[in-house]
Amino acid sequence: MKITVINGTEKHGVTYRLKESFLDQLRNDSEITEFYLPKDCPNFCVGCMTCFGDDEHKCKDAEYVQKIEMAMLEADLLVFTSPAYVFHTTGAMKAMLDHFGYRWMPHRPAKEMFGKRAVIITQCLGAGGRSTAKDIKDSLSWWGVSSIRVISFKLMSEVRWDKISEKKRDKMTAKLVDVARRVKNTDFSKPAVTGIVTRFKFYAVRMMQTGLGKDNPEYTDYKYWKERGWLEDKRPWK
Ligand SMILES: Cc1cc2nc3c(=O)[nH]c(=O)nc-3n(C[C@H](O)[C@H](O)[C@H](O)COP(=O)(O)O)c2cc1C
Repeated sequence: MKITVINGTEKHGVTYRLKESFLDQLRNDSEITEFYLPKDCPNFCVGCMTCFGDDEHKCKDAEYVQKIEMAMLEADLLVFTSPAYVFHTTGAMKAMLDHFGYRWMPHRPAKEMFGKRAVIITQCLGAGGRSTAKDIKDSLSWWGVSSIRVISFKLMSEVRWDKISEKKRDKMTAKLVDVARRVKNTDFSKPAVTGIVTRFKFYAVRMMQTGLGKDNPEYTDYKYWKERGWLEDKRPWK
C-alpha cells in the first residue's frame, strides 16, 4: 500500500508522536512518502489565479505543489496531521491547501480523488481539535474524497509528549492502533465508495459547468469537464 502523509507542522512534538504510532502499525507492508509543512510547500498562494484560469503548472510554486499532488494521486491512503492553532489547522497546512483550490470540485477535481481513502489526525490542548480537522476535511471532500476518517485528541493537561501521563499516551496510541488495524483490513484493490454527498456536489457542479460552457466554450474548467465526458454520461467514480 502507498501512503502519503502531509504533516501540518515540522515539529517532532505530540502530533508527530501520534502520527508515528499510527504509521508504525502500517510500515511493514507500506511505502510511505511524507511531507512536512511549511518546509515542503513554503510559500503562500498570492492569488494570481493562474491555476484556476490557465494552468496549474504555471504557478510560481508549481515545483512544490506538483510534487505533493503526484504523491497524493499515487497514494492508496492519504494521512493529514495537524495540531490546533487558535482553533484551526496550522497556517502552514492552510497555505498548502490554498494551493489546491483549483482541485475543488467547481474547478478541476482529479478523478483519482473520488476513490481515495483518507485519515486526519489532529490534537489540541483543550478545544479546537474538531474544527482543525474540519479545515482539512473541507478541502478533501471538495477534492472528491468520500472516505475520510477523523481521529482527534484532547490532551487536557500537558502539551509536551514526555510530560503526558503514560496512561493518557497509551489510551491515545490504542485508538490509533485500532484505526490502523481497520485500515489494514481494507481492500485497497477496490476504490472507496463515492458517497451521496460527493455525488450531489458533482451533479450540482455538472449543471453549473454546462451553463458556463454555453456562455463561454473556451472556459478552462468547462473544457476540463467536457474532455472527461463528465457533462455526458461518464463519471469519475466506478
Ligand atoms: C500558536 C498555537 C496555538 C494553539 N491554539 C490552540 C487552541 O486553540 N486550542 C487548543 O486546545 N490548543 C492549542 N494549542 C496547543 C496545540 O494544539 C498542541 O496541543 C500543542 O502545540 C502540542 O502539539 P505539538 O507538539 O504537535 O506542537 C496551540 C498551540 C500553539 C503553538
